[in-house]
Amino acid sequence: MPSTKKTSNTSVIILAAGLGKRMYSSLPKVLVPVCGRPMLFNSLLELESVIPNAHVAIVVGHQKEKVIEQVSSQNFNLKIEFIEQPEQKGTGHAVKCAMAGAWGKRAVLNKENVFVLSGDLPLLSAELVKEMSEPLKRGVAMKLLTAVLNDPFGYGRIVRKSKKGPVLRIVEQKDATAREKEINEVGLSIYTFQAQFLASGVEALKNNNAQKEYYLTDLVQAASSKKREIETKIWENVDDVRGVNNPFELSQAGEVLNSRIIRNFAMHGVRFTSLSNCRVEPTVKIAADVSIGPGAVLEGKTEIASGVTIGANVVLKNVKVGAGAEVKAGTYGEDSIIGENVKIGPYAHLRPESVVGKNSKIGNFVELKKTTIGEDTSVAHLSYLGDATVGSHVNIGCGFVTCNFDGRIIDGQRKHKTTIEDHVFVGSDCQTVAPVTLKKGSYVASGSTVTEDVPEEALAIARCRQVTKPGYAKKLKEK
Ligand code: UD1
Ligand code: CA
Repeated sequence: MPSTKKTSNTSVIILAAGLGKRMYSSLPKVLVPVCGRPMLFNSLLELESVIPNAHVAIVVGHQKEKVIEQVSSQNFNLKIEFIEQPEQKGTGHAVKCAMAGAWGKRAVLNKENVFVLSGDLPLLSAELVKEMSEPLKRGVAMKLLTAVLNDPFGYGRIVRKSKKGPVLRIVEQKDATAREKEINEVGLSIYTFQAQFLASGVEALKNNNAQKEYYLTDLVQAASSKKREIETKIWENVDDVRGVNNPFELSQAGEVLNSRIIRNFAMHGVRFTSLSNCRVEPTVKIAADVSIGPGAVLEGKTEIASGVTIGANVVLKNVKVGAGAEVKAGTYGEDSIIGENVKIGPYAHLRPESVVGKNSKIGNFVELKKTTIGEDTSVAHLSYLGDATVGSHVNIGCGFVTCNFDGRIIDGQRKHKTTIEDHVFVGSDCQTVAPVTLKKGSYVASGSTVTEDVPEEALAIARCRQVTKPGYAKKLKEK
């Protein structure tokens, strides 16, 4: 039985061939990150959430290999095709590259609508995508999104027949007369076209303008002069349509995206001491009933379970924090796991591949690298543990160091392993020279430098015996 279900029938063209000279970046503009990920990804994520599986043509040019590689490395739920624009002759020409080939022919044949947007719109919202992917009304050639800006500089201005009358054309900043520059209704590089109108329209574009470019915006005049209906919509939420052309606008977009993320978490049970001072990337997960202090930065695949307290200026990148844990001020962690009810910091440093088991305590100025700590273990002050496996119920005193590198290469490894088994007690100011094992239940006396394995339940003392010379201090002072 043929399906009678209506699909949205909207395809998408994203313009991403430009250099983005004003960004001064070695990356093509659409790959410059906003809140930790390429700005183009933000638009693609909104597209896949509203119109999953849609055909999307990404027009590439400058550093196209990088754009193709980055986008292809993600599994967007979209039918993405890359269309090359060999030379950047303008936005109209970029669309023509897509519409003149097989991609455009399919859209025309299927009588689709084509949602066109530029790749430098990282704040696109789901509502906006919904608005632009609604089927066009019969007879409408194009739908144009506009906004009213206090400072319209740089944008194409919307020229209407009368104040609220029909749109006649869009005039670019560089082509506008002084009077036209006073118009503060602008075009946003966001439109939806009837495929056939778009295909024939871009074929007919001319480049007789200030920049000698083929302007996509000229299709507005093409439609109005042919008395084709143009639907316009003024988008009230100006944040959604902020384009990014330079590092200043990039920062602005980042702030908006960040505040959206924080608002969303705050509405779902996360308490932020400061709304403006924290940074949370969109890939981060935070459960309800979590408190986050000012200046916290949560990045990448960080996941915070419920009941956690994150102190001021904590930076976590790809760190999982278990329920009830307390991460105190100034702690920095990367690619690590913090177990349930752990207390860590202030000023602890988790380097990659560190795991702290539940109920353990990692105190101030403790650095862990590639180290696993068991449960109910304490490393409370001023220590370095690298390439170590530490068991449960272990107590490590102040100022402990695993000497994991002594210049030797053993079995191809430059760094050697330290194993500290369950119930070991290490006094303050000790070192262990790896490879070495402190067996279950053993003790190491304060001030020891352990170079040999310590058997189960043994006590190792590896320091000089104290020599006390009565009256000697007094003698020295008299000299
Ligand atoms: C464009 C609009 C302007 C609108 C503004 C909104 C035109 C002529 N002007 O100007 O009316 O107010 O966006 O931000 O359309 N690109 C290509 N190939 C090209 C040229 C551009 O793919 O040959 C891409 C760019 O990579 C970019 C997008 O198109 O992602 C827009 O280009 P940009 O140069 O930023 O256009 P604006 O001058 O901002
Ligand atoms: Ca732009």
